[in-house]
Amino acid sequence: MNIPNTPLLEAHGLVKRYGRVTALDGTDLELYPGEILAVIGDNGAGKSTLIKCLSGAVVPDEGEIRLDGGPVRLDTPLAARSAGIETVHQTLAVSPSLDIASNLFLGRELRKPGVVGAVFRTLDHKRMREEALRHLDALGVMTIQNPGQAVETLSGGQRQAVAVARAAAFGSRVVIMDEPTAALGVRESHAVLDLILRVRESGLAVIVISHNMPHVFEIADRIHIQRLGRRVATVTPDECDMTDAVAIMTGAMTLEEPRVGDA
Ligand SMILES: Nc1ncnc2c1ncn2[C@@H]1O[C@H](COP(=O)(O)OP(=O)(O)OP(=O)(O)O)[C@@H](O)[C@H]1O
Ligand SMILES: [Mg+2]
Repeated sequence: MNIPNTPLLEAHGLVKRYGRVTALDGTDLELYPGEILAVIGDNGAGKSTLIKCLSGAVVPDEGEIRLDGGPVRLDTPLAARSAGIETVHQTLAVSPSLDIASNLFLGRELRKPGVVGAVFRTLDHKRMREEALRHLDALGVMTIQNPGQAVETLSGGQRQAVAVARAAAFGSRVVIMDEPTAALGVRESHAVLDLILRVRESGLAVIVISHNMPHVFEIADRIHIQRLGRRVATVTPDECDMTDAVAIMTGAMTLEEPRVGDA
């Protein structure tokens, strides 16, 4: 892959402490336009905390986040969303009792045109369902036929697809996913992996956290390896195999951090 010089999104020296626990110990990250960056690391390595900093859910104690090379403050989820960054967190934030379309538009509901929508704030359910189908179709989620179906009646994979579709529909620059295939079976996982590839095809950059090495090696352009609150290496699937990646992740093998993308 041809890596452009300026990262779209960068983190430098992020530190986050929770009392005596150091979740992030000066971690860096670079995400380049149009790439899928996988983030791997053992339990507690700080992966979720890192992406929470990038999605405005957690404010780091120290460090800097840059977008297009310039510093940004992503102090709230809204600030991150306004910057074009959408996140699917590890604990999936869908509302089971609502239907698919309402979940997709949660917090961004479409109002009816004219006075009815502006003054009475009447929701345009018809348009939301049409748009929901369009978004799901665009991502190739053909197994969902009725956007009026309650999310609690969907399979795990379909639920995950709704969450990914929501992020892809509203993220204009970056989509971040924390363990999107963790709870899924083989078929459902592959549907979500395909979905992630389509999100990249649509021009967005993707950060995906996963413990599943075959999945990581299947879709990632680059792999960020997190250990004890820091990035210890960034590798590519061509130059590093799964055994080595796991060895770096667990500390069994150390590596001078390769400067992938610094060329
Ligand atoms: N809100 C919090 N309060 C206290 N400690 C926290 C909090 N969030 C995270 N931590 C701690 O920070 C460390 C990093 O947690 P984090 O959730 O980022 O790890 P992770 O790499 O995502 O792990 P996993 O693979 O298990 O999801 C852990 O030791 C965790 O216990
Ligand atoms: Mg996590």
